[in-house]
Amino acid sequence: MEKNVYIETYGCQMNFADSEIVGAILTQEGYKLTKSIDESDFVLINTCSIRDNAEQRIHKRLRELRALQTRHPQLRIGILGCMAERLQHQLMEQEDNVSFVVGPDAYRKLPVMLAQVSAGSRVAETELSTEETYGDIEPVRYDSNGITAYISIMRGCQNFCAYCVVPYTRGRERSRDPQTIVGEARSLYEQGYREVTLLGQNVNSYRWHSGEGDVDFPQLMARVAEVSPLLRVRFATSHPKDLSDSLLQTMAAYPNICRCIHLPVQSGSATMLKRMNRHYTPEWYLNRIDAIRHYLPDCSITTDVIAGFCGETEEDHRATLEMFRKVRYDYAYMFKFSMRPDTYAAKHLADDVPDDVKTHRLEEIIALQGEVALENNRKEIGKTFEVLIEGASHRSDKQLFGRNSQNKVIVFDRGSLQPGTYAYVKVTGCTSATLLGEVVDKP
Ligand code: SAH
Ligand code: SF4
Ligand code: F3S
Repeated sequence: MEKNVYIETYGCQMNFADSEIVGAILTQEGYKLTKSIDESDFVLINTCSIRDNAEQRIHKRLRELRALQTRHPQLRIGILGCMAERLQHQLMEQEDNVSFVVGPDAYRKLPVMLAQVSAGSRVAETELSTEETYGDIEPVRYDSNGITAYISIMRGCQNFCAYCVVPYTRGRERSRDPQTIVGEARSLYEQGYREVTLLGQNVNSYRWHSGEGDVDFPQLMARVAEVSPLLRVRFATSHPKDLSDSLLQTMAAYPNICRCIHLPVQSGSATMLKRMNRHYTPEWYLNRIDAIRHYLPDCSITTDVIAGFCGETEEDHRATLEMFRKVRYDYAYMFKFSMRPDTYAAKHLADDVPDDVKTHRLEEIIALQGEVALENNRKEIGKTFEVLIEGASHRSDKQLFGRNSQNKVIVFDRGSLQPGTYAYVKVTGCTSATLLGEVVDKP
């Protein structure tokens, strides 16, 4: 009989892209993906280890699922993703309601593993690979809006930022065959998709070696942009140490490559950046910001930042605030430092900033960023943007929302417009998170 699989995803965009690969591997073997956890035979939880609270959330979820299992004794639970990689033994030993544990490079083994689990075994596969990219697998977009999609272009990371668990959970960096990437973009476009986001932990170090010469990230992006001028291209994440002028020039040459760069700064202090093993200085980072403004004057810039890394002083923290004032980010993901086992920091540094100080510093950054984002958005009032319509606004189905090239959300009256098409929208108002506008004729 056909077995139902329910997939639940936590963590970063890469994990969401991986879940769609898992969906493809399992549907090919006759499993059915279900949106109803109550009807499922297998619950697959694709997990994240980036901060301690991400893992705590999964442990809590496992406790909740125990209750579900008493109602549905046939239900088998599997842990996938970064936590599976990091905690394979602990999960197998301490979580008796977990039947299988699968690391990010072992998803092709899932059909065999699910068969073993059905036969009563508990199994774990967590070997990392230096080659696996799942390049030949066309993801099943089981939870998609049919308009925007992720395309994974590389896996792993070997930057070993001192605080970060990703190199340990995802293994060595490897790039995917550009032909399969462009093929996937083309197939998405033909199915009606209008935006793809190329994903990697450090997309600037994408490189494919072939007999006809190497393909680097700017070249790859140009190829994807050439699929159609109606297909928007985004990417994440860029590491500041590798953000090249050639990437910015390529972006400038293609209007459908979106004017938005996510450039995680992590800290504004030279001492902290060095201790974090980021391989750039605040001066270098600001030089890259100047280069973005030079080549792409209308580009939005977003970032990630960590408050309270090992040994961070008040002065280091002030330098981060100063960086935020100088760059004026359009959006920021802001985090309290969370010590992760096995990282360089865990082995060699002390988590010596008290939690209340971390919280206070984080709040200061959040408050400053809130002001800057609102001021930035106010400057958009009166401008007209091309918007890709994604769907009904969360507040009212008489309104639609979409994004401009800068990735800002704009809400406007529905009229006779349809999701998946482009419209010109003039901004008439804003909050710190959203622009409000009205549809206009082409400017
Ligand atoms: N590859 C991306 C980031 C991946 S993780 C890059 O290099 O920019 C996403 C973000 O989580 C990081 O940018 C960082 O800001 C944050 N992060 C990573 N490890 C963390 C930790 N131990 N504590 C708090 N935040 C962390
Ligand atoms: Fe982590 Fe640094 Fe790699 Fe990003 S670049 S995933 S922060 S080690
Ligand atoms: Fe989390 Fe793994 Fe992504 S640790 S942020 S799911 S790479």
